[in-house]
Amino acid sequence: MGRCTECGAWNSFVEEVVEPAPAAGSRTALSRAAKPLPLSAVSVDQEARLTTDSDEFDRVLGGGIVKGSVVLIGGQPGIGKSTLLLQRAGALARNGMKVLYVSGEESLRQLKLRAQRLNVNPDSLYVLAETDLEAILDTVRQFQPALLVVDSIQTITSPYFESAPGSVTQVRESAHAFTRLAKEEGLPVFLVGHVTKEGYLAGPKVLEHVVDALLLFEGDAQHLYRILRAAKNRYGSTSEIGVFEMTDQGLRDVVNPSELFLSERLQNTPGSVVTPVLQGSRPLLLEVQALASPTHYGVPQRSATGFDPRRLPMILAVLEKRAGVQIATHDVFVNVAGGIRVEEPGVDLAVALAIASSALNRPVAHDLVAFGEVGLGGEVRSVQHADLRAAEASRLGFRRVLLPRSAAARLSKKRGNFQPVPVRTLQQALQEAFE
Ligand code: TYD
Ligand code: MG
Repeated sequence: MGRCTECGAWNSFVEEVVEPAPAAGSRTALSRAAKPLPLSAVSVDQEARLTTDSDEFDRVLGGGIVKGSVVLIGGQPGIGKSTLLLQRAGALARNGMKVLYVSGEESLRQLKLRAQRLNVNPDSLYVLAETDLEAILDTVRQFQPALLVVDSIQTITSPYFESAPGSVTQVRESAHAFTRLAKEEGLPVFLVGHVTKEGYLAGPKVLEHVVDALLLFEGDAQHLYRILRAAKNRYGSTSEIGVFEMTDQGLRDVVNPSELFLSERLQNTPGSVVTPVLQGSRPLLLEVQALASPTHYGVPQRSATGFDPRRLPMILAVLEKRAGVQIATHDVFVNVAGGIRVEEPGVDLAVALAIASSALNRPVAHDLVAFGEVGLGGEVRSVQHADLRAAEASRLGFRRVLLPRSAAARLSKKRGNFQPVPVRTLQQALQEAFE
């Protein structure tokens, strides 16, 4: 079938061969592990987390690595998954932990060269170049590492299944086997999963429900920074992000992401607005860019990157109808600079101001940030954590904070060095925003 009758996606069907269940022998371990316990007798000390050398990494995990957890790191080839995990494995091994890094992609020599470049060379970091599932499981049971990395799950094959390496069956069965191992041994396991250009076939999507956490490593080759975000996490919030920079000595934590994201901003350019967004517990300043120019042929084009494209027509309609900005015959492009995806409504106001600023060809005041949700009536609605957002803006030298009136009323008295500019409607916001 070319097209899915349910979701309408093209070429999303994958052939899956139905395989007989594996031989009885390989199942005994599982049945041994299945012993009911009174809930009251379950101890939670095992939840103690291992922390690594990277605060960004630990934060996305929910505060460190949980024993017996299986974490899948997904991302496109070349984004830096192996680098990220080799660095963390190296740091834990440096503290004396016995770490096993299984590579099905690279030879031991290639691993060594990478490790040298990353300055990772502890004695208790062990490597194994192997793709056979049973061999890896046996090795782990005998070798008893305290942490296991499998790079990548798509290269692992089990002789019990006849499908090709990398097929849905092989990948899923291998992931199940590692999950069983993790739970039996209390061993934290990291799996690397490639996301291909075509999307997620036989990749992280298939495994999402098998693992405890799915972390996506994103970014693009043009930018040096990378973002680690949790798409699923049984042990923490899914709204946390970690920001890294790719250097010639591997990935480095970016402690001050706001500065990084604003570093390339052109001041006094129409169509650029800075907004504080909340990513998990952390406020981040981002630049929203818009370009609105008269359409030359046919239907106006609209596109949004980093911002929900379904909200864009709504914002345009509100701008036109409630704030009187003539935009119906303009092409409109919106971009959140730096490759970040914003999924919270607090960014609406900045998007609306950026579009208006570009359409009117007037720059927004250089010391101003704006946040708030835009409603259909043209009202600017309150969003959470106005204090945190305003504090981050003031920390980076912005002196005026355009925000919903209801949120301004809740700002704490003890606040940083900035002037709140409360607005109730988009129209008021437009009056305040321009130089
Ligand atoms: P890699 O970790 O191999 O990616 P993945 O495992 O996700 O496929 O990263 C490969 C890229 O990272 C490659 O383009 C080279 C670059 N890189 C650096 O820039 N600095 C470094 O120190 C290392 C090890 C890699
Ligand atoms: Mg790799």
